[in-house]
Amino acid sequence: MRTQLSFAPLAGIKTELLAVLAADTQTSKEPDAEPKVVLLTSDKAVKAAAATVLRSGEFKAGANETLLLHAPEGLGATRLLIVGLGKQSKATVHLVRNAAGTAVRFAKPRGIRKLVFAPPEPTLLPPGPCVRASVEGAFVGDFDPDTYRSDRQDLSIDSFTVAVPEPKDKAALNAAFAEGVIVGESQNFARSLVNEPGNKLTPTIFGRRAAAMAAEVGLPCKVFSTDKLHELKMGAFWSVSQGSEEPPALIVMRYEPKGLAKNAGGPVLGLVGKGITFDTGGISIKPADKMELMKYDMAGGAAMVGAMRAIALLKPRVRVIGIVCAAENMPDGKAQKPGDVQTAMSGKTIEIINTDAEGRLVLADGLTYAKQLGATHLIDAATLTGAVVVALGTTNAGGFSNDDETYAKFEAALDTSGEKFWRLPLGEEYAEQIKSDIGDIKNTGGRYGGAITAAEFLKVFAEDTPWIHLDIAGLAWVEDSKPYIAKGPSGVAVRSILEWVRSY
Ligand code: BES
Ligand code: MN
Ligand code: ZN
Repeated sequence: MRTQLSFAPLAGIKTELLAVLAADTQTSKEPDAEPKVVLLTSDKAVKAAAATVLRSGEFKAGANETLLLHAPEGLGATRLLIVGLGKQSKATVHLVRNAAGTAVRFAKPRGIRKLVFAPPEPTLLPPGPCVRASVEGAFVGDFDPDTYRSDRQDLSIDSFTVAVPEPKDKAALNAAFAEGVIVGESQNFARSLVNEPGNKLTPTIFGRRAAAMAAEVGLPCKVFSTDKLHELKMGAFWSVSQGSEEPPALIVMRYEPKGLAKNAGGPVLGLVGKGITFDTGGISIKPADKMELMKYDMAGGAAMVGAMRAIALLKPRVRVIGIVCAAENMPDGKAQKPGDVQTAMSGKTIEIINTDAEGRLVLADGLTYAKQLGATHLIDAATLTGAVVVALGTTNAGGFSNDDETYAKFEAALDTSGEKFWRLPLGEEYAEQIKSDIGDIKNTGGRYGGAITAAEFLKVFAEDTPWIHLDIAGLAWVEDSKPYIAKGPSGVAVRSILEWVRSY
């Protein structure tokens, strides 16, 4: 998708489709009050072209509601698409991001390859964030997961233009626009990895894809396997991969800001992702129903790879280490068994109760390794538990932390990313649930509070280092397509992790 920013007046733009936004300005509290729909542009010709249909009252401007006009009078565009933003008083940059995705997903199946999108004008919402979000939303909307269909028609948009009134500070808008491209492409890169089935994306191939991306953006990246796991004594990580014919991959990416002296001190951020390329459950095997979805069990790892891509291109002034622990969780003659005791890299011993609680095992060693490499702050992302989906559904992902200050920075990042994470508690009482009789801890804590006991397990390995854990099991895969995003991998957490990193 080619993208550009235009300061030309909307009416004169020649394009296949011009998309503008509309909102409901009705403030009356009465339930049956009719919506008062207004277009969020000051372009007189666009307003005139839409006046009749808006007066009809057929279009309510609900969020992502669409209305198409052909041959709109007085416009250079051959079609005018009106996308609803909902109540004007509740308008946000995040709704604009979705609206841009909606416009793109409206265009795609209709064979429309070029479109122009006009975000709301600066009087309603800040222009920089709107421009950035519009581009991000367009990339999100442009992604479809039908990679392996032999009758696949590539309906991707050729050209997406964001059109805004000529600003005083063009440089600022150009920068916001360029950021949106990087972020949108990085999120889609993560999604393309998550979309791959287990046979096409083994840990080894995951490593190769990460290394190829890293080489493209000038990021040092090393991919290790079995020997390195043994050398580092990563007994927890290895225990997951030992039941698979596919060797594990330990992916290590490093970002060093230019001009920051080697001995300058300051924070080093460690990003650790769960990269289970397929989770059968192992000997504690999963039921067949929906097991095919367990190809997305590497979404946390993909989020880290996507975030590292964006970091390499946006160049924040902070050191970052990105680690992905990739393995396949399989039952086999060599697979680990319930009751086995594993010694993690940190020296802690783990009693395996359920081989399906494998994510925390690979992450345990990933967190220890990040610390060994010098990380002063840790963040991990993982499709870790079904329990977090029971707790928060598919609206909010779970967030956990051992440090309020660090988590506050993450919450602030959510304002920019627009992603939803809900912080869940940790505590001694939960930690009790994972004490083991035979070793230091066990890898499951019983039926209750499963997302929290999983986080408590990871906390043992984060130790005193400020740490955030993101459980994205409920959001990494979109189960029902929405107007602005296809069913399939979401790329959740890429944007939030990136903004958190940039806040240092
Ligand atoms: N990968 C799963 C968690 C998961 C479930 C992700 C649903 C996405 C959707 C994880 O490895 C797992 O199997 N967790 C177990 C833990 C249990 C055995 C303590 C679970 O949630 O059932
Ligand atoms: Mn599992
Ligand atoms: Zn898993």
